[in-house]
Amino acid sequence: MFGKKKQVSSIDKDQLELIENAQKRIRQKKRLYIHFVIFLIGAVFLILANTVLGIGKDFTIAGINWFVYAILAWLFLFAYHFITVFITHKFMGKEWEKQQLDKLVNQQQQRIDKLKEDFLKEEKKIAQSQAYNESQLANNTEEKKNSNELTIIVAAGEDNAIGKDNDLIWHLSNDLRRFKELTSGHHIIMGRKTFESFPKPLPNRTHIVITRQNDYKVPNGVIVVNNLEDAIDAARKDDQPFIIGGGEIYRQSIALANKLEMTRVHSTFEGADTFFPEINPEKWKEVSRTTHDADDNHKYAFSFITYEKR
Ligand SMILES: NC(=O)c1ccc[n+]([C@@H]2O[C@H](COP(=O)([O-])OP(=O)(O)OC[C@H]3O[C@@H](n4cnc5c(N)ncnc54)[C@H](OP(=O)(O)O)[C@@H]3O)[C@@H](O)[C@H]2O)c1
Repeated sequence: MFGKKKQVSSIDKDQLELIENAQKRIRQKKRLYIHFVIFLIGAVFLILANTVLGIGKDFTIAGINWFVYAILAWLFLFAYHFITVFITHKFMGKEWEKQQLDKLVNQQQQRIDKLKEDFLKEEKKIAQSQAYNESQLANNTEEKKNSNELTIIVAAGEDNAIGKDNDLIWHLSNDLRRFKELTSGHHIIMGRKTFESFPKPLPNRTHIVITRQNDYKVPNGVIVVNNLEDAIDAARKDDQPFIIGGGEIYRQSIALANKLEMTRVHSTFEGADTFFPEINPEKWKEVSRTTHDADDNHKYAFSFITYEKR
C-alpha cells in the first residue's frame, strides 16, 4: 500500500527490439570489416609464404600457383559474407521488414480507430450542444412571447384628474390621434365603466373588459374577464398590451405596468370625480417629453410624456 511504485520503462517492447536489431546490425558490419582486414592480411601472407618463404613453390594447377586459388576461394567466401550483410541481410531481412510493416500498419489502424472514436464522441457533443442551443432559442422565443411591455396610457390634468360623470373632461384632438396611433393593432384592457363610456368598440383593437358581473353582455369580439390578471393573460401574445383606464383599473395596474404613456394636460379641473394615482418618481423614470401649447384646436396646453419603470 505504501511501497514504492514499480517504475515502468518508458521504452516500449518495439523500441527495445529496434535497438537490439540495430546493435546486431552494427556487430554484423563490424564482423564483415574484420573479415575484410583478415582477408587482406591473409592474402598478403599467402603471397609471401609462396613467393618469399617458398612454401608449395612447385605446386601449381594449370600453371597457376596454389596461393592464387586460395586467395580466390577466400575472396569468394568474403563476397558471400558481404552479400549476406548488405543484400540478403539475415538479421534484418525481408521477414523482419514484413514484421515491422505489419506492426506499423497495426499501430496506424489503432490510431485511426481511436481518432474515429474521438471524432464520434466530439460529434455527439456538438449535436447535443446544438440541440441545447436550439432548445434555449425556443425557450427564449417563448419567453419573449410572454414578456410583453404592459403599457398604461392616460391623459391627466395637473391634479391627476381623468374623468367626470363617466366621461372625459377635455377634448384634445392631438391626444386622441396619439391614442389611436399607439393602441391600434393591440389589446386594450379597461374597466367596465370606461368601456361603457364609448359609444361603440374602437376599431382595429381587441377590447378586454374587466367586470365582476358574470353575465355581462358585450358585442362580438370583445373579451370579458373577471379580474385584472385574467385580462393580462388574455393579452399575453401581444408584445404591447395597453391599460386604457379608468381610475379603478389604473390604480390596480400601475404596480404591474412597465411603461406609462401620459398626456399631461396643463390645467386643473374642478368637479372631476376620477383621478390617476400619483406617479412615484422613485419607481418611474421620464424618458421622453414633447410639449404642445394651447391653440384653436386645443383649449389646454399639454405634454406627451413617456415613463419607464425603473
Ligand atoms: N383620462 C383618461 O385617460 C381616461 C381613460 C379612461 C377612462 N377615463 C375616465 O375614467 C372614468 C371611469 O373610471 P372608473 O374608475 O370610474 O371606472 P373603470 O375603472 O373604468 O371601471 C370600473 C369597473 O371595472 C370593474 N372592475 C374594477 N376592478 C375590478 C376587479 N378587480 N375585478 C373585476 N372587475 C373590476 C368593475 O366593474 P363592475 O362594476 O361591472 O363589476 C368596476 O365597477 C370615466 O370618467 C372615464 O371617462 C379617463
